[in-house]
Amino acid sequence: MAVAWEERIEEIQREIQKAGGLDKTGEEIIAELRRTRKCLWEAEYSRKYDRNVGEALNWLEASVQVDGEAAEAVSEVFNRYGRGGAVLSTDFDDELSDTAVVTVKTYLPLDEEGLKTRRRIEEALWHMSQIYPLPPPEFRELTEDDWAHAWKKHYHVLHVGQRIVIKPSWQEYKPRPDEIVIELDPGMAFGTGLHPTTQMCLQALEEHLEPGAKVLDLGTGSGILAIAAAKLGAGSVLALDNDPLAVRAARANVQSNGVPDIVTVEPGSLDKAAEEFELVLVNILARVIVELADQGLVDRVRPAGLMIAAGIIEEQEAEVAAALGEHGLEIVERRQEKDWVALVGGWR
Ligand SMILES: C[S@@+](CC[C@H](N)C(=O)[O-])C[C@H]1O[C@@H](n2cnc3c(N)ncnc32)[C@H](O)[C@@H]1O
Repeated sequence: MAVAWEERIEEIQREIQKAGGLDKTGEEIIAELRRTRKCLWEAEYSRKYDRNVGEALNWLEASVQVDGEAAEAVSEVFNRYGRGGAVLSTDFDDELSDTAVVTVKTYLPLDEEGLKTRRRIEEALWHMSQIYPLPPPEFRELTEDDWAHAWKKHYHVLHVGQRIVIKPSWQEYKPRPDEIVIELDPGMAFGTGLHPTTQMCLQALEEHLEPGAKVLDLGTGSGILAIAAAKLGAGSVLALDNDPLAVRAARANVQSNGVPDIVTVEPGSLDKAAEEFELVLVNILARVIVELADQGLVDRVRPAGLMIAAGIIEEQEAEVAAALGEHGLEIVERRQEKDWVALVGGWR
């Protein structure tokens, strides 16, 4: 899909040149298409939703049926404008292939602001439909209960690796004796467990975490990796995030998962982690990992310790490996899911 996007963007740019340029909104959409492809989950950050959400009584559901390729671009628009971001579903429990029919939905409060947002969504999708065939969005009104239910329908108990279970708070689950359960509700901060990078980090964590290890989780988001580390036997976990909303969400999740004695959540970044750790988790973007490598990220890994780095799109893997390598860390393992790569590094 990566190549298809790049080619399509080039093609669109040629069409725009031929047509003598675009207005600002059109240009913004092109920029957005590029961003969607490059930093898919930067858009996912906007899933952090406004806590005022509960104040609205009624909701508008916007939905569009598209193919897998257009689904990413429509999701970007919905992530930007909808409360709680975009929800994608296919009729089949299938990967998003370019030919699958995907329904992309989002929700807006049914008030004056919501109606303005509806117009923005319609405009953005109309502009997109000029360069890629798209049906107009459909809107339907929902009550608060319908809305909560519509969200909940999409989150289920999720099994990752051999022993990790992520469950939303409203679902019952009886774990096997060797399983660890992380209770997380969607929407508050990045890290619901649905993203392939989070899943690869959890799998690598499960394999490499030594009992009693001192762990750094840089860019903790919802706190999911820190909580998993604690429940898998870490001795202590320092969880940092430079987004205050993520810090709030992670603290609440650490508390509700019963691991506040092991996990400390603090606002900030590498400068707040002066010591060395047996395991460093950094699931941010490739660009950020490269910057952090130059600021001493690798020095936080103890001799014989490991780093799990993720958030890396396949094309950016070599750059990240080189940046870590420059500071002495060798890639000892690699995982890939779809376009996403996770690297495990250790000292040479
Ligand atoms: C992709 S999320 C990962 C969340 C979670 N660790 C997971 O694996 O699902 C990245 C998080 O890193 C945070 N972040 C981005 N740049 C950062 C930086 N330089 N220092 C600390 N946190 C950062 C973002 O706010 C976001 O919450």
